[in-house]
Amino acid sequence: MEKQYKRYLITSALPYANGPLHIGHLAGVYVPADIYVRYLRLRGRDVLFIGGSDEHGVPITIKAREAGISPQDVVDKYHALIKESFEGLGISFDVYSRTTSAIHHKTASDFFRKLYDDGLFIERETEQYYDPEAQQFLADRYIIGACPKCGNPDAYGDQCEKCGSTLSPNELIEPRSAISGSKPEMRMTKHWYLPLDQYEPWLREWILEQHKEWKANVYGQCKSWLDGGLQPRAVSRDLDWGVPVPIEGVEAKVLYVWFDAPIGYISNTIEIRPDDWALWWKDQETKLVHFIGKDNIVFHCIVFPTMLKAHGDYILPDNVPANEFLNLEGNKISTSRNWAVWLHEYLKELSGKEDVLRYVLCANAPETKDNDFSWKDFQTRNNSELVAILGNFVHRAIVLTHKYFEGKVPALAPPDSPLGEMDKEVLAELPLLKTRIEEALEHYRFREALKECMNIARLGNKYLADTEPWKLAKTDMGRVGSILNISLQICAQLAIAFDPFLPFTTAKLRSILNTELQPWDALGQPNLLAAGHLINQAELLFDKMEDDVIQAQLAKLEATRQQNVAEGVTATPPAFEPQKAECSYDDFVKMDIRTAIVLEAERVPKTDKLLKLTINTGIDVRTIVSGIAEYYSPEQMIGKEICILANLAPRAIRGITSQGMILMAKQPDGNMRFITPQEPLGPGCVIN
Ligand code: 2FM
Ligand code: ZN
Repeated sequence: MEKQYKRYLITSALPYANGPLHIGHLAGVYVPADIYVRYLRLRGRDVLFIGGSDEHGVPITIKAREAGISPQDVVDKYHALIKESFEGLGISFDVYSRTTSAIHHKTASDFFRKLYDDGLFIERETEQYYDPEAQQFLADRYIIGACPKCGNPDAYGDQCEKCGSTLSPNELIEPRSAISGSKPEMRMTKHWYLPLDQYEPWLREWILEQHKEWKANVYGQCKSWLDGGLQPRAVSRDLDWGVPVPIEGVEAKVLYVWFDAPIGYISNTIEIRPDDWALWWKDQETKLVHFIGKDNIVFHCIVFPTMLKAHGDYILPDNVPANEFLNLEGNKISTSRNWAVWLHEYLKELSGKEDVLRYVLCANAPETKDNDFSWKDFQTRNNSELVAILGNFVHRAIVLTHKYFEGKVPALAPPDSPLGEMDKEVLAELPLLKTRIEEALEHYRFREALKECMNIARLGNKYLADTEPWKLAKTDMGRVGSILNISLQICAQLAIAFDPFLPFTTAKLRSILNTELQPWDALGQPNLLAAGHLINQAELLFDKMEDDVIQAQLAKLEATRQQNVAEGVTATPPAFEPQKAECSYDDFVKMDIRTAIVLEAERVPKTDKLLKLTINTGIDVRTIVSGIAEYYSPEQMIGKEICILANLAPRAIRGITSQGMILMAKQPDGNMRFITPQEPLGPGCVIN
């Protein structure tokens, strides 16, 4: 049993108000957060779901400068668009505010000031780039120069977008100011640093010892940060957009956006609960959970908790269930390359299909590894799951009830027709499904929970198919009544179980069933609809997704791709292949991987791709047929040291028996290279 708290404070990362939302944001953060919150509310918990826009930071000022408008104009535009899109998808925030609000400026300012007054910051003067023409210090993004790694002439001071390297401004070759184009000079500037290093022992104990239950990706990232050693982090910047540093005499400096943004969770709580906000943030009986994407892990697991701890009286997150990234049609989602499915466009173009998107993004959520969204998969999940399983079951149950019982819920097990084995089994299965769904939701395994919900509908479909009430109608109406009673009870279960996931659909289902929303604990109970209760006419819960809808979306992406090519924008970097399904250590040790030397190599006649290799494995000399000829000529292979899977079952390829497989690495562009030891080892060395 999970511990029950008095309050549940659920936050979701505050998106930057410098662009619209896309499906990556949704799958990573907002859909799972909303499911969790809706589930807690159904359980009757006292919940606050905190959202808002992150309106500071350099990208916003750059966007404003490019567009010739003020940063405030930028955030006004996107805050409104983002807020409206969230509402359209049914993301049920209790508050969606913004970090330019007066309350936030005061809260963030007071927070900084408390740490400052307590003497917890380190003050440091360092040299930083300064643009003498624009008369301002240059944030990393404002410095452009050649990338020392790949030569890209337009790399930023913090990152090269061409090769993906993380950079620091003084690594750039021939740096220039993004504002005036002039050559920047070095000047001394003072900043305040949060001494993360001093909190390292405490963080190690709190995360690595007390939160071993955190998701493996989150725990692993924290561990590697902690093992790498923490450094003091600057929490102020030389900028004029942000929360001003609240120290007398200090000008043109603001709080670093990652210092003020998470305080936004507190400010937004204050905004809606001015009287008891402190209970939500300071009482140990509050469970605090941060929903974020993987790029935010360090800030939510290390930096913000350190700020809260330093402040002294705040609670800490109980969990930070961060997701990995979602790719789109095999490529990384990219705002600058317009490689995305934008939520506001989806809501317009596929109006009425909000739950389909919620469903697909949850079913395919990047919970443990990066995942891919494809329109084909979207169509298949709609047609083969939502329509064929969920929609179909509900429709059959409702239509049959109207056909045989004039829309009234028939009695269960009337005196002349006791329940059969199948009926009892189905009824017994419902509480088990409830337990499984709950268990998954409590542990942030939303994909699994959704699957179990779908299993309720599967159970219903199978039950109808096995019992065939339409055949029994000729002989045993009592039994038909029981079957439809049970089927309608299953529909009522679906209206509860799916409610966190598909709120638009469950509202429709409740209207068909003519019922109100029932609490979570009604799930698993067999008597949610009383005999005699009148239901409404059947309506389809989902429509088939036709090919033309999918084609139109694919055509849009293709147009983007072509436009990028025309404008010389490099294609979106290929996404890395998603991680394969988990395997056990036992699976791994079964594989005999070893070094071998290629003795002879020749093309397999009449093929383009195959080479026949004679290799020395240390234990024998054998033949391997490999599809390596696309990448290497026979001459290039002779004498090479390779790695092979030696105990793969022999296979006849073009009449030649191949005894094993060469290990090859596939590069993102599809090119394959064989793996060779970094120094000659000789044949027969076992790799494990
Ligand atoms: O990565 C982002 O989009 C950030 N704006 C998230 C901030 S989360 C919190 F700290 F506000
Ligand atoms: Zn580069």
